[in-house]
Amino acid sequence: MNEQASMDIYAPHAWRHGTMVAGVRWKNPVGTASGTFQLAAVGNFYDVAQLGAVSTKGVSTVPWEGNPAPRTAESPAGTVNAVGLQNPGVDTYLVDELPKLKALGATVVTNVAGHCDDDYAQVVEKLADSPADMLEINVSCPNVSHGGMSVGTDPVALSHLIERLRKITDKPMVVKLTPNVTDIAGIARAAVESGADCLSMINTLVGMRIDIRTGEPIISNVTGGVSGPAVFPVGLACVWKVRQALPDIPIIGIGGIDSGEKALEYLYAGANAVEVGGAALVEPTAPLRVAHELELLLDARPELADKLAKGDTWR
Ligand SMILES: Cc1cc2nc3c(=O)[nH]c(=O)nc-3n(C[C@H](O)[C@H](O)[C@H](O)COP(=O)(O)O)c2cc1C
Repeated sequence: MNEQASMDIYAPHAWRHGTMVAGVRWKNPVGTASGTFQLAAVGNFYDVAQLGAVSTKGVSTVPWEGNPAPRTAESPAGTVNAVGLQNPGVDTYLVDELPKLKALGATVVTNVAGHCDDDYAQVVEKLADSPADMLEINVSCPNVSHGGMSVGTDPVALSHLIERLRKITDKPMVVKLTPNVTDIAGIARAAVESGADCLSMINTLVGMRIDIRTGEPIISNVTGGVSGPAVFPVGLACVWKVRQALPDIPIIGIGGIDSGEKALEYLYAGANAVEVGGAALVEPTAPLRVAHELELLLDARPELADKLAKGDTWR
């Protein structure tokens, strides 16, 4: 049996290749992408502390119901979703999911959602003294009418927001970028110059499906965000472009990752770490499997593994 075939992702494991992301040590370079991980759904299947990090669903000031159904549609090599950032609100998160994850030993990236700057600021204030290891500011959701992607596509609005949040918290602040822009490097630079410690990319691409029986859009929101294998080359190119423009900023690569090999491509493009998203919706243990596959690939690439452990990147 080869090493991969004998891999037991459920057994306790001492990870051989960690990474440093904006001063935070991840046990391995693979985390979950926001909105595709829920402790209640997977906590009984595997030890979530085995993941490099867990990025939780975006939290807002008060509970959000999200968009009306239908919220998802199949698409070639991916899905289109317009969940609309449904979440129980930051107060519930602070007494429920976050303490549970920390008690289990997980490294937690708390994803923050808002409809306006005041919303983001109020959530970050509440999280400033929490046990969250990193905050990830979602300025890239295409499925909300205000906030989200409208901030992340405008460098001036983005700078304004990040400068404000920087004054509220010393926690490592990740800004999550959208690929739905002409110049992602320009947006990335605006985020870094106004105080971001790290960038994550990509969020979903705007897309839609139409039901040919009715001639009407399938998703009630009309458009949604495309994720999955279809967006893998897009995410990779975004990481590459931002790494070329900003050689020193930590980057978390996201988009279409469903194997150790694809995670490795992101690391070679210049990412410090990666997050697995939609793959976990069809295979709940996908992030852990990808982490194990990547570990074997890094065993054979000591130069890359050494760089990651020190907080450096391949390029
Ligand atoms: C159902 C669903 C919900 C999501 N919710 C969030 C969210 O709350 N916050 C966020 O920043 N990104 C969210 N995303 C985007 C993912 O974190 C990720 O950036 C995107 O899906 C691309 O990665 P993938 O191709 O591996 O899925 C969501 C994606 C999906 C599919």
